[in-house]
Amino acid sequence: MGYAIRAPRSNEPYDNTPIFERIAEDLYARGYSLIDEAIPEQLAEALFTRVLTLNDTDFSPAGIGRADALMQNDFVRRDEIRWMSTEHEAEHGWLDWVEQLRIYLNRRLFMGLFSYEAHFAHYAPGAFYKRHVDAFRGGENRILTTVLYLNSDWVADDGGEMLLYLEDNGMNVAAPPIARVMPTLGRLAVFLSEEFPHEVLPAKRDRYSIAGWYRINTSTAEKVDPPD
Ligand code: OGA
Ligand code: MN
Repeated sequence: MGYAIRAPRSNEPYDNTPIFERIAEDLYARGYSLIDEAIPEQLAEALFTRVLTLNDTDFSPAGIGRADALMQNDFVRRDEIRWMSTEHEAEHGWLDWVEQLRIYLNRRLFMGLFSYEAHFAHYAPGAFYKRHVDAFRGGENRILTTVLYLNSDWVADDGGEMLLYLEDNGMNVAAPPIARVMPTLGRLAVFLSEEFPHEVLPAKRDRYSIAGWYRINTSTAEKVDPPD
């Protein structure tokens, strides 16, 4: 995995284009992209500070399944989440960044990405999220997943990697992961939501991330699909 391209330091003029182009090329070539220092360092620091200042009571146990049949299942996942909004400056900064990426990918790859939703996730020590896909064909309208990591000084021994697998075909469930992603501050994973099963291994430390999804518009004359 090459991680050569990085966002500039805080006081350099900032041009997202090289990183957006790299994400587009990776998605086109193989359906996923892993980028270190994907966003300006100042924004990564602000998001990191923001998630650390949220209290336990700001987070709720995450559910599984479709929004209309949301279930909690501690066997599948043990993380706690908090949805993001533009009301806080750092959260706004992230939502702006992903909006620029949305426009870029729509122009470059005609992806038809329409809206985006994201939450902070906290995995307490020992928490995990078992192997899953974020969207099923013909079901949900999540198209593209983003996961931004917010943990400084993470080392391999801390655990908590996200393992990314090639799509199940019923034969290769024992196949090794195609990527093991340590949740290092500023690292971004982007992948096609229907294509890549993935899981989060338990960590020894508190583990923070922002998981988000671009969706297509599934509005019809009978049912208006709200952007969030
Ligand atoms: C998710 C998810 C991965 C991570 O929230 O759906 O898979 O590494 N998160 O936090
Ligand atoms: Mn997921």
